[in-house]
This record gives sequence, structure tokens and C-alpha cells, in this order.
Amino acid sequence: MTQQPRPTLRVGMVGYAFMGAAHSQAWRNAHRFFDLPLTPELTVIAGRNHNAVDEAAKRMGWASTTTDWRELIARDDVDLIDICTPGNTHTEIAIAALQAGKHVLCEKPLANSVEDAKRMVQVAQDTAAKGVFAMCGYSYRRTPAIALMKRMVAEGRLGTIRQIRAQYLQDWLSNEHAPLTWRMDKYKSGSGALGDIGAHSIDAAQFVTGLSITEVSGMLKTFTTERPVGGDLVGLGGHGETKSDAAKGPVTVDDAAIFTARFDSGAIGVFEATRTALGRKNAMRLEINGSLGSLAFDFEDMNFLQFYDGTDPEEARGFRRIMVTEPVHPYAGHWWPTGHGLGYEHSFVHQVADLVAALGNKTQPTPSFSDALQVQRVLAAVEQSAANNSQRTPTRNEES
Ligand SMILES: NC(=O)c1ccc[n+]([C@@H]2O[C@H](COP(=O)([O-])OP(=O)(O)OC[C@H]3O[C@@H](n4cnc5c(N)ncnc54)[C@H](O)[C@@H]3O)[C@@H](O)[C@H]2O)c1
Repeated sequence: MTQQPRPTLRVGMVGYAFMGAAHSQAWRNAHRFFDLPLTPELTVIAGRNHNAVDEAAKRMGWASTTTDWRELIARDDVDLIDICTPGNTHTEIAIAALQAGKHVLCEKPLANSVEDAKRMVQVAQDTAAKGVFAMCGYSYRRTPAIALMKRMVAEGRLGTIRQIRAQYLQDWLSNEHAPLTWRMDKYKSGSGALGDIGAHSIDAAQFVTGLSITEVSGMLKTFTTERPVGGDLVGLGGHGETKSDAAKGPVTVDDAAIFTARFDSGAIGVFEATRTALGRKNAMRLEINGSLGSLAFDFEDMNFLQFYDGTDPEEARGFRRIMVTEPVHPYAGHWWPTGHGLGYEHSFVHQVADLVAALGNKTQPTPSFSDALQVQRVLAAVEQSAANNSQRTPTRNEES
């Protein structure tokens, strides 16, 4: 018996640089590794520059292009809009797309303010009732080791969660000559390290533990307050080399953010997000300590999960290093034989696979816009706390 071809899911994507490339390869590959109810079709991408968007379409496999995202939403041969642009554009594009009856995948953080995020949630809830769904791209949830952490916590392997330690450490802004891009412009990005990478830590911590943050105390720091104006570097997510003699412009966001948190269960947490931790390239780390055991993850060693089982016989206790590539592990069975390892790009394929499976079942994909609004509230609370609440301690000289 010949298999009937699956119906297509025709995708229109806005933005075609770092996340555009990561999402494109996911749309191209997901149905080749996962059994999906709909086959993604790379129908159209939108950018602002005609030549650049044409070149990107050829390189990444898109069938057509436009230089106006509104045109892409108006097309009746597009079922889903994938938003891969800076945060200041998310709200307008997502709301227009949902109201036009298109499903939406929107990159994180959901918006640049709680108010904008709330408007997006309102529209998404209205359209979900009509079968038009929205999801936010907190892709680290789909790293197999992080998904395994969630499973093990849910199975009770850690007992009661007591402490959560989340760090997201990068170093690409250690160089004070690194150029000013949209990521250092508060209007476009909402915040700096906090929203760019700290948002992933907040989402992952809440996702893994199933808990919600209810209280924070934060501190933000900008080490380099102005940078050479180098234009938005395409294809590198804004990372890049200096133009040393260029004019300078102001950095209006944090380089580093730290905060403590209370969770709704009574657990407590420490969070750190920085782009100035020299030597740390993409150290997205998460450690959870419970009454029965601990789990620890570091994205720089992303195929492994560390597990300490406090119920082991005393003489045999110690952190064990689980290679998360067995068929029984989340997502891993869809890929290569045991031990062959996955990379950064796979979480985006998993994101598409989970999204398309949910759309095929006509169910709400996760994280929903509402889940992402909760992260937005935490980001806003950290900023507010950093602005208001520090308690000054006298220096040694002042005391004498
Ligand atoms: N999930 C993740 O792991 C992850 C990683 C990086 C970035 N992100 C998020 O993805 C989004 C995009 O980040 P990026 O790293 O791809 O940025 P980038 O600078 O690499 O690409 C941004 C793209 O948006 C386009 N663009 C900018 N303004 C536009 C506008 N007004 N209209 C149309 N196109 C516009 C640019 O031309 C470019 O193609 C951000 O929300 C960011 O926070 C998520």
C-alpha cells in the first residue's frame, strides 16, 4: 500500500540571520527525522533588503521572498508565521498574524514589555479558541538533557526541590570594541544579557521544576557604556569584530544581570546572566538540589547530565555522568545510534517537531504565549528590583 502524502504546513518566516538560519534548518529537516502529521513547506521569507533576502532564500531553501512582512501575512498560501526578528517587532507581527488566522512561532523573549506581552496573550487566547495557535521559542527546553532533567524531577528522583542555580555565561561583549548592535539598544531588545540569555534560564528553571518564580531581588551592570557603531551584523546574532575608529553610541542595556529568586513552593534560586564572562562561550548551566538528589547541566557539555542520587548506598554515592543519547532519552531515539551526540541546532528541530505535532492534534503547543508572559514578568521584576531595592552597606572608610 502506498502512503498518502501528508498535508503541508506552509511557513512564512520574518528575519533570516542567526535564528532565521537555525529555524530554517529545523523547518527543512523536522519531518525527515520525526513522524509529523503535517509536512513543513518553506514558502516565503521576509526581510528588509531585497538582495539580502533573496540570497538568504536561496541559501536556506525558501521558495519566495518579500521585503514587507505584512505581505507575507496577507498571502493565503501561508499557514504559520515564524518570527525571528528583534523583540521590538514581535508584538505587532504576532498580533497581525494571529488575527489573520495564521499560527505563530515567535522567538523569545516574547516582547519587550509586560504590557506588550499581555496584549499578545489576549489575542493568542482568543484565536486559540478558534484553532489558531501561538508558541514562543524557548528552544533550550528541547535540549535532550534538559528535557530529561524535567522528566527526572517529575518522577520524584530529586524529592522536594530546595535550591535552583541557573547561570547563562557568554563572553562576546568582554571586548569593549565589539560593535553596538540592536542587542545593546533597549528600544529594540528590551534588555541586555537579562532578556537575551537570562530569559532562557528563567524559562528552563521553571520548566524543569514545574515551579513559578514569585519574588526576585536583582542587580544589573553595564561595564561598557558606549561602543563603536558597527551596524547590525547579519548572520552572527550580533556577535562580531570591532571597527576601532568608528563613532560611538550609547549602550542602553545591561552587560550582566544577577538575581535571587523565591519560587511558589518555597524553593529558592540564584540566577546569573552575562556576556562578559571571559572564556565562557555558551555556558547555559542549570543545577537543581532536592531532598533526595541533585541534577546539573552545562550546555558546553550538552550531551551529558550529571546526577547525584542521595538514596544510593553511602559508599557508592557521587555524581554520575549520564550520556543523554539513548533511545529512551527525550528526542534522542529519532537521531543517531547511541553515543553519536547532538548539537545546538537539534533543539530547533525538536521545537518544530513538537509544534507541528500539536498543530496536527489541534492542541495548544508549549511554551504558550501565556507561559512566556510569566518569564516576561520575572524579567520586569528583576529590572524594577535592580532600580529600586539595593541596600547600601558602608565601606570600611565610612565606618572609621
Ligand atoms: N532561541 C534561541 O536560542 C535564540 C538565540 C538567539 C536569538 N534568539 C531571539 O531571536 C530573535 C532574533 O535574534 P537573532 O539572533 O536571530 O538576531 P539577528 O540580528 O541575527 O537577526 C535579526 C533578523 O531580523 C531582521 N530584522 C530586524 N528588524 C527587522 C524589521 N523591523 N523588519 C523585518 N526584519 C527585521 C534582520 O534583518 C535579521 O534578518 C530575538 O528575539 C532573539 O532574542 C533566540
